[in-house]
This record gives sequence, structure tokens and C-alpha cells, in this order.
Amino acid sequence: MAQQKTWGGRFSEPTDALVQRLNASVGFDARLHREDVDGSIAHARMLAQQGVLTTDDAAAIETGLLAIRAQIDAGTFVWSEALEDVHMNIEARLTEAIGPAGARLHTARSRNDQVATDIRLWLMRRIDALDGALRGLQSALLDLAERDGRAILPGYTHLQRAQPILLAHHLLAYFEMFDRDRGRLADARRRAAESPLGAAALAGTPFPVDRFATATALGFERPVRNSLDAVADRDFAVEFTAAAALAMVHLSRMGEELVLWSSQEFAFVTLGDAFATGSSIMPQKKNPDIPELVRGKTGRVFGDLVALLTVLKGLPLAYNKDLQEDKEALFDAADTLGDCLDVMARLLPACTFHPERMRSACDGGFVTATDVADYLARRGVPFREAHHVTGRLVGWCIAEQRTLPSLSLAEFRRFSEAFDEDIRTAVTVEASVAARTSYGGTAPDRVAAALTEARARLSLQPA
Ligand code: ARG
Repeated sequence: MAQQKTWGGRFSEPTDALVQRLNASVGFDARLHREDVDGSIAHARMLAQQGVLTTDDAAAIETGLLAIRAQIDAGTFVWSEALEDVHMNIEARLTEAIGPAGARLHTARSRNDQVATDIRLWLMRRIDALDGALRGLQSALLDLAERDGRAILPGYTHLQRAQPILLAHHLLAYFEMFDRDRGRLADARRRAAESPLGAAALAGTPFPVDRFATATALGFERPVRNSLDAVADRDFAVEFTAAAALAMVHLSRMGEELVLWSSQEFAFVTLGDAFATGSSIMPQKKNPDIPELVRGKTGRVFGDLVALLTVLKGLPLAYNKDLQEDKEALFDAADTLGDCLDVMARLLPACTFHPERMRSACDGGFVTATDVADYLARRGVPFREAHHVTGRLVGWCIAEQRTLPSLSLAEFRRFSEAFDEDIRTAVTVEASVAARTSYGGTAPDRVAAALTEARARLSLQPA
């Protein structure tokens, strides 16, 4: 019925049923209830401070809102689609419970600044939790690097065996990706941390509100400077979702490698039974569903990002109802990223690596050919020529079914006079790894130092 609505005053016909369903956001924005109550309490306290509300009214509002929160937490609160969204559900219930004081809460406020405040607050809190999840995954990577990191495997380019590397070095590459993800989330959080509250519908309010006070009370850095921007801006949602999409890319690449590495072709790793699944028809199968799903879910988050960008692109200032479509995409991106981070942090320690398989993959692919070229270059052969000579040597080995470490000095010398006895150790996989001592390289001492540095960085960064 029209008069049930908070805005029902000018309406004489009831809302069409389909319109009511389509217009309502309570089905998904009810999860903003904590932020909505926090925002309303801060608003009411500030109004009392400024003499707009009596302290009695403000106190009644606060008590009433906390009682509503308790009902929501206990699952006894009844949400109504007719009341459209989380804001009007809570406000209507408050007024029902405490009378006219409840009806005064919306003074100097609009749902436009209210919803923008709620989402920003929700996102700031969620980013803090996601930062914890990212740290958890980083710490799992470091534990694994310490546990199994001495294993040597081929590093790949073009998925062709390229040069041998330490497993720890490979894992630390992911540590860096997730470190950048944390930086991007922290950066998005900084710009989300401005309070729209007090911008009211779009133009500000004639009431003597203290926007700085509500901003501080709620944990924002400051108020949004422009009232139109305060209600129209969703950049923070886009920035967060873009950062989430990129974090998902990193998880997806890791997922892809786990899928490859757990295949019988690679057999570099066996997933823990708790993190793998079987086939309904092929009894022998152990499927890497979780890394595959992480890879697959990355697409959802890309979709969330594109949905948000598309909602915003044609909107005139200031608030438009289209903005209600921000929430499901934002929530989905945060939920998906959070779940994928958590599952990967638990899946990794349950992995069993197979160092012997990794090591024997190094024997097959001439992964130390670069070391031969480097050797010649160190002896004065121009690198391009050294590369060519080594290419001929490798071609000959392929034809003769020989490996580099199996060649005698005489055989090496058929290709260049510059070879000496020490070439025979230089072409071993272990020597190749040990030789890569440049900063950021895979030499064991470098990797040990990188691991120590990463641990220190992780514990220094504020949680
Ligand atoms: N549920 C709405 C949203 O999510 C709240 C703001 C509604 N504002 C309005 N003027 N209709 O955007």
C-alpha cells in the first residue's frame, strides 16, 4: 500500500508487484546492516551535538538501533521487500519501536549519502579482512619455500624448458604478486576512506551538520569534498574490483600451474586428498577441481569489474538508481577473492612436491645450454657467436641422443677451442642454478636472502 512507504506521501496507487520486486535491493543490501546502524548512530550523535536533535531523541535512536542490530544478529528481524532496502527497513522498524524520535533520524540526510557511506565503510572493513587473507597466502608460500624450496625444476618460457631454478624462487615470484595486490588494495582503501555523510541528496543540507565529526567517528580519513561527487562517485568500487580482478589473475596463474604440475605428464606435485575430487565414472581419477575453479572464478570477477564500469559510464550527476547495481558486483568480487585466497592458503601446505620428477625434467631439455654460451662469452667469444656455437652443439646432441653433462672435453672442443675441463661442471644443473647470482636471481644464496627479506617484509607490514 502506498502509505506504507516512507516516500508514499505523494502517491495514490500502490506499487506494481513486479516494480516492487525489481526496485527492491534489500535481498542483497541487507548485508550492509552493520554499517547502516553505525552510520545512523554517528549521524544521530552528531545531530544532537549540533543541537538539531535533543540528546534524549539521539539516545533513544541509539538504543533502538542497537536493539535492531541484536535482532538482525539473532536472525529474528523480518526484512520487508515493500520497504525496498536495508536503510528503509531499519528506519521503519526503528520508528515503529521508538516513535517520533525514529522519524527524526533522517533529518539532514538522504539515502543517497547514506548508501554511499555504508558501502564505503563496508568496503574499508572488507579490504582489511582481505589484506589478512593475502598475508595468510603469502605466509603459506614462504612456509612452502622453506619446506620444499631446495628442489630444482626447469623454469619455462613458452612452456618450453628454459633454465633450471629453485622451487623456492618460483614460489617467491607469487609472493611478490600478492604483495603488489596488497599495495593496490591499500591504495583503493585510502580513496574509499572519505565520508559522503552530510552531502544529503546531492547539494548539501541547510542543517548545521559537522561532516568532519561523523567522518572521524566512523573511521574515515575526512569527508568527501564535493556533495555531488559524494553521492555520485563509485570509483572506490571500481578501483577495488580492478585490484580484485588482478589478484584473481595471480591466483588463476597459480591455479593453472597446479593443474599442469599435478598432471601425469608433469607429476611435479600431488594435491592433498582434502583438496582434490574424484570422477563419477573413471575410478582412477584425482581431479584438481579447486585450482581449476579458482582459475574459472577469475572470469566472474572480470565480469563484476565490467559490470561496474558499464553502470557508471553513461550516468549524469548525481545519484541515479542505476547505482543500486553496484552492490552485487562489488560483493561478488570481494566474496570470490576472499574464498579463493583462503582456499589456496590451505591447499598449498597440503601439496606434496616431487623433487625427483622436477630434477629429472631438468635432464631432458638442454636447460643448461645458456650456461655453455655464457661460458664461451666469458672466454672472449662474442655472445652472439657463442649462442650460435652452442646451438650447433645442442643440435648435434639431439641427433646423437646425448645430454650436455655427458659430453667429454674432446667432444666439446669439436665445437670450440675455447672449452676447457671446467665446462664439464659448468653444464650441470646444480652449477647452472648456483651461477645465477645476480640480484633477484635463482642462486641458492640469493634465494635464501630473498626468503629472509620476504619474511621480514611480511612481518613489518601492518596487518
Ligand atoms: N537502495 C538504494 C541504492 O542502493 C539506496 C539509495 C536510494 N536512493 C534513492 N534516491 N532512491 O542505491
